[in-house]
Amino acid sequence: MATSVPPHPSQLIEEISELRTRHKAVILAHNYELAEVQDIADFTGDSLELSRRAAVVEAEVIVFCGVHFMAETAAILAPGRTVLLPVAEAGCPMADMITPEELLAFQADHPGAVTVTYVNSTAEIKALSDLCCTSANARAVVESIPVDRTILFVPDRHLGEWVTRGMDRQVVFWPGFCPVHQRILPEDIARKRGQFPDALVMVHPECDLAVCESADFVESTGGMLRRIADLPHGTKLILGTEVGMINRLQTARPDLVMIPAGPDLVCANMKMTRLVHVRDALLHLRHRITVNPAIADRARGAIERMLAIP
Ligand code: 13P
Ligand code: SF4
Repeated sequence: MATSVPPHPSQLIEEISELRTRHKAVILAHNYELAEVQDIADFTGDSLELSRRAAVVEAEVIVFCGVHFMAETAAILAPGRTVLLPVAEAGCPMADMITPEELLAFQADHPGAVTVTYVNSTAEIKALSDLCCTSANARAVVESIPVDRTILFVPDRHLGEWVTRGMDRQVVFWPGFCPVHQRILPEDIARKRGQFPDALVMVHPECDLAVCESADFVESTGGMLRRIADLPHGTKLILGTEVGMINRLQTARPDLVMIPAGPDLVCANMKMTRLVHVRDALLHLRHRITVNPAIADRARGAIERMLAIP
């Protein structure tokens, strides 16, 4: 049986460029995507930056290189545009850790509470929420809520605990988590600090609260890029986040020394998308992400209330 030879990357890049022009498409990529995908993207960023971009994009087709909830958020914010997710199976396990039935029961147990939902969630969950947040703006979102209101924070317990620490507020957390960031333990950080005593520690707020409290900086992926801009030449950084971020940070600051906080900090879903999938997405206009209009309208309200917070 004849085996097909995979196309050369330069050929794929050429095809993507031609198809992008033909379809008036824009390619958005998350910071954790493979370097080959980030390199051909029109814009790479964190969840908040990508949402803002999706909301104002003029292109007719948005190819979203990331995971399902991100493309779904783009489809909600850009109605009328064609939103494509190159790999249909690329999902976020955290987004599936709460169902609409579970959220409705949670809300029924806490009448009058305000539901704040991390964007790593399905459109149905967003539609049942008062406000969305990302890791970059979660504290500002919580601060926008009157202090006498109880907050239900879903689905990421760790992000919720981190952003509400020290606040004199009634907050009830849903026990969701990111399986990648949850792997980082306080002992890992202590061990790395022992090995690299002059290094700074930077982690993502999806890490456990004790890990966040032991860090020098806790940042969204976009915040990490901003944070390193002013670090002195040669600074060593112990990084508590997905490994893809190392490439992103190292490209911006080749002089810094990046040390992963632990082994295997890989989000398999973020690594599914390759150049060939981007090419095929544009070639076959697949996989289209659509959201039921009634759900999209309600979810858009929760996202737009978030985007309106400075
Ligand atoms: P950011 O919003 O910081 O990019 O995080 C998204 C995410 O899924 C991190 O695991
Ligand atoms: Fe979801 Fe974690 Fe992957 Fe982010 S890193 S997409 S939260 S599984």
